[in-house]
Amino acid sequence: MLTDVIDYLICPVCGAVPFLAGGSVRCERGHSFDVARQGYVNMLTGATAPGTADTPAMVAARAEFLAAGHYAPLAHRLAELAADAEVVADAGAGTGHYLAGVLGAETAGAGAVGIALDVSKHALKRAARAHPRIGAVAADVWRGLPVRDRCVDVLLNVFAPRNAAEFARILRPGGTLLVVTPTAAHLHPLVARLGLLSVDEDKDRRVEETLGGRFAKAVQEVTEIRLTLGRTAVAAVVGMGPSAWHTRADELAERIAGLPDPVEVTASFQITQWAVRA
Ligand SMILES: C[S@@+](CC[C@H](N)C(=O)[O-])C[C@H]1O[C@@H](n2cnc3c(N)ncnc32)[C@H](O)[C@@H]1O
Ligand SMILES: [Zn+2]
Repeated sequence: MLTDVIDYLICPVCGAVPFLAGGSVRCERGHSFDVARQGYVNMLTGATAPGTADTPAMVAARAEFLAAGHYAPLAHRLAELAADAEVVADAGAGTGHYLAGVLGAETAGAGAVGIALDVSKHALKRAARAHPRIGAVAADVWRGLPVRDRCVDVLLNVFAPRNAAEFARILRPGGTLLVVTPTAAHLHPLVARLGLLSVDEDKDRRVEETLGGRFAKAVQEVTEIRLTLGRTAVAAVVGMGPSAWHTRADELAERIAGLPDPVEVTASFQITQWAVRA
């Protein structure tokens, strides 16, 4: 709930300390942010949200696919890596699946709290309910995060945009940024068979370029999951990914119909631990 994380937030307009007042979050200088009926607070400051926010259909597909447990090994690994954290944030949290996995793990501190940040209100509605100690906040990673300096122990960033300066600012000294990116083997053979957007070879170098100035790469590991997916699950995993933006739904459905049912698919994730440079 927002009460769990309000102490770690700042007013996105003036940087002052905010507080909960009725149905809104306010700061002492009078800036006010609505708390939606579904429990997330809207701290977006720009006139328009970026066009990269996940749509209702993408969020529904992701919620369905993740709830089926297909990516559970990734959630477990992230929970292990974040086991000692008291304050966990997730930039581009989506439905809050991985953040809830961290807070709900047996190894998690009983008082650990989670700040779910995303631009998609459809995603935040779910994130706000994903775990009792998650506070969900609408914010644009590109514009700056309404989170206090140096208060986050572990920051998750799973298949979502990165802002190195802001990530470094909100992490405490000694804190860890956990970045999950797809490897070139992710969703083999669906990428080739369905003509999905593929991970470009340069992805690693670009992530390094973005983060390298403020973070030191500590440990890098790959988690691979072999999945046997029926048609509905294939449609969900495609619908939740970037190809959903670029390919017509009827065209995709036609290509999916041409696949074996079920089909063997590999999910392949790179998890990189980054330490803030002093
Ligand atoms: C591929 S999804 C991943 C969601 C979640 N991390 C997961 O793996 O289930 C990318 C997420 O980033 C969010 N997003 C896109 N642009 C953003 C931005 N500028 N600021 C914050 N979130 C953003 C989208 O709304 C979406 O929820
Ligand atoms: Zn303010």
